[in-house]
Amino acid sequence: MGATYQGVGFSNIALIKYMGKKSSKLNQALNVSLSYTLDHLQTHVLLEDSPTDADIYNLKPDGPDSESLGPEASLKFSRFVEVLKKEFQLESQFFKISSVNNFPSDCGLASSASSLMALTEALHEKYKAQHQKEIPHLDRALLSRQGSGSSCRSFFKPFSIWDGDQVTAVNLPVELLHMVIVVDKKPKAVSSTQAHQRVQSSLLLKDREQRARMRMGQLIGALQSDWKKAFEICWAEFWDMHGLFETSMPPFGYLGAESLKVLEELRQSWELNQDGPLVTMDAGPNIHLLFRSDQKELWNQNLQLWKSRYECHHS
Ligand code: DP6
Repeated sequence: MGATYQGVGFSNIALIKYMGKKSSKLNQALNVSLSYTLDHLQTHVLLEDSPTDADIYNLKPDGPDSESLGPEASLKFSRFVEVLKKEFQLESQFFKISSVNNFPSDCGLASSASSLMALTEALHEKYKAQHQKEIPHLDRALLSRQGSGSSCRSFFKPFSIWDGDQVTAVNLPVELLHMVIVVDKKPKAVSSTQAHQRVQSSLLLKDREQRARMRMGQLIGALQSDWKKAFEICWAEFWDMHGLFETSMPPFGYLGAESLKVLEELRQSWELNQDGPLVTMDAGPNIHLLFRSDQKELWNQNLQLWKSRYECHHS
């Protein structure tokens, strides 16, 4: 049996969102974004030599026993294999590529970030073995960005800032516990790549770049000294992004009755207790909660509550 190569990728949750592109060629983001790397939501990619003159894919989006990945996400994956082969001088070779996520894909949990990071890392392992050289970490992150913009942030932790061609790890003095409430894991009707294009028609996109930068500065301060303000900024930020979706022409959206119900309960709980988790959403119906490590009891209470009603994934 030939050698095998492995790559692991992580999801991340953006507190300041990447939405809209300056150019889709290299996934150049319109605005700065800030994320928290979710190293418990992982993709594992295994690379072997193909027995034929073609690449063979086995892509499992939600555990090893799940159905195969949907056509759009599969195409995104296989197209990026071609880009990586060229970059790593592996064009004449064919692989059997297996990819498995330990969480549901295509529903707003940044699965393309983790899967394309894992793919980049697996092919880089092959490149290292074959060429006896290594590509620097930042260059690999920027390469992975070509596959899916948000994946470049997953290369850095605990927080990551992506600003133009710079992606950097940020160490804020706050440790977070994560939980995502999966209210719906059906693959979304509008992919995030399509969303980036469609928000170009929203009039609200005009000042988005400045808004995101201003919020990011405020959020970095608030995360260190004013948790309630941090909650308010994260809340405003995800609604800003969902507002872009709904003010596009034609409009589109991800929030169903179930998501709205959970959001309302979370907001009411904040109003009542003047405390709670940061709440945010990606381009999908599912709701991410982030707690400070000293809110462990509250995190536990929330986990009991939400997992009695929905599938939850947590740190
Ligand atoms: C809504 O990275 O999935 O999750 O660059 O087209 O692959 P492509 O898009 P993708 O965008 C996801 C954006 C988001 C918000 C965020 O993660 O910042």
